[in-house]
Amino acid sequence: MEHNYSCSRDVNCLAALLLAALCLGAAVVARGQLTDDFYDDCCPQAEDIVKARVSAAMKAEARMGASLLRLHFHDCFVNGCDGSILLDGSNSEKLAGPNLNSARGFEVVDAIKADLEKACPGVVSCADVLALAAKYGVLLSGGPDYDVLLGRRDGLVANQSGANSNLPGPFDPISDIIKKFRDVGLNTTDVVVLSGGHTIGRGRCTLFSNRLSNFSATSSVDPTLDSSLASSLQALCRGGDGNQTAALDAGSADAFDNHYFQNLLSQKGLLSSDQGLFSGAGANATKALVQLYGANSERFLCDFGRSMVKMGNILPLTGSAGQIRKNCRAVN
Ligand code: HEM
Repeated sequence: MEHNYSCSRDVNCLAALLLAALCLGAAVVARGQLTDDFYDDCCPQAEDIVKARVSAAMKAEARMGASLLRLHFHDCFVNGCDGSILLDGSNSEKLAGPNLNSARGFEVVDAIKADLEKACPGVVSCADVLALAAKYGVLLSGGPDYDVLLGRRDGLVANQSGANSNLPGPFDPISDIIKKFRDVGLNTTDVVVLSGGHTIGRGRCTLFSNRLSNFSATSSVDPTLDSSLASSLQALCRGGDGNQTAALDAGSADAFDNHYFQNLLSQKGLLSSDQGLFSGAGANATKALVQLYGANSERFLCDFGRSMVKMGNILPLTGSAGQIRKNCRAVN
């Protein structure tokens, strides 16, 4: 790919300040565009550093790939993909309903950033760390190898109320979920494809036990939930500990594949918002896509990469906007 900025290839990469300046130069020349070669000259080892840390974290706990994928999603839906979810403080997005006791992987991001700061100080943004960590979380779980676009800069503020209002919830009707995606420039296909991210990871009892008892006047269990899955989930959640977790994709919990969609075809989705993509009144616009991806794994993997690039392009800060945080938890 041709370079669209002036970062020279034979630059001495130990000259950290110069490198930071080069990346700033790159951002200015790039005029708001993310590129797949943004760090090629000013921190060529960036992707390898992220990959090594994600790989080590997933060896210790396979689920971490999923947690990192979700962090990028929750970052991008609030103020755009600007690393705002990583900021600590009283207005932290970490304290918002969808993230509290739920979003995880922050220590892995800290470790990645510490390695990057050693190798190329002040060069790689926390927002790009999230995009790269999500990419490797997917890839190392067996998912597609898409070209992640880079060159985001970090935001200066967190937006807790935005996290509460913009992020889709498991009890939201599909029409509301589609609207929340549309609000950030993503369409109904993106909703279905990206929901396929639930092919990895876990969900807590508190977020699906609405389907297990007192469901309606006529049925105590959600009729769109497979009865044997319902029994095992009831056994899991019976003790009342809402933090017990079940696989979002029963059957292949840590493998990035299209079983998530096959599950929906046989009423084995975990969350109401998952099963709702196929069953029920609101599924008119999404049902055929669930069938398509359930039948065609390659198509799902390919479309997932494409939609991830689209999601990663939500309102990125570029040029001289924002900053490159030294520590992802606080502005410089
Ligand atoms: C479509 C609307 C969505 C809703 C309503 C939703 C909701 C949820 C909920 C309730 C959980 C479980 C959280 C917990 O138990 O604490 C979860 C987990 C997860 N979500 Fe989503 N999500 C949606 C879309 C997405 C998208 C677009 C992605 C990524 C592309 C994604 C990736 C994940 C992953 C990987 C996990 C597991 C995280 C882990 O195990 O740590 N979700 N989601």
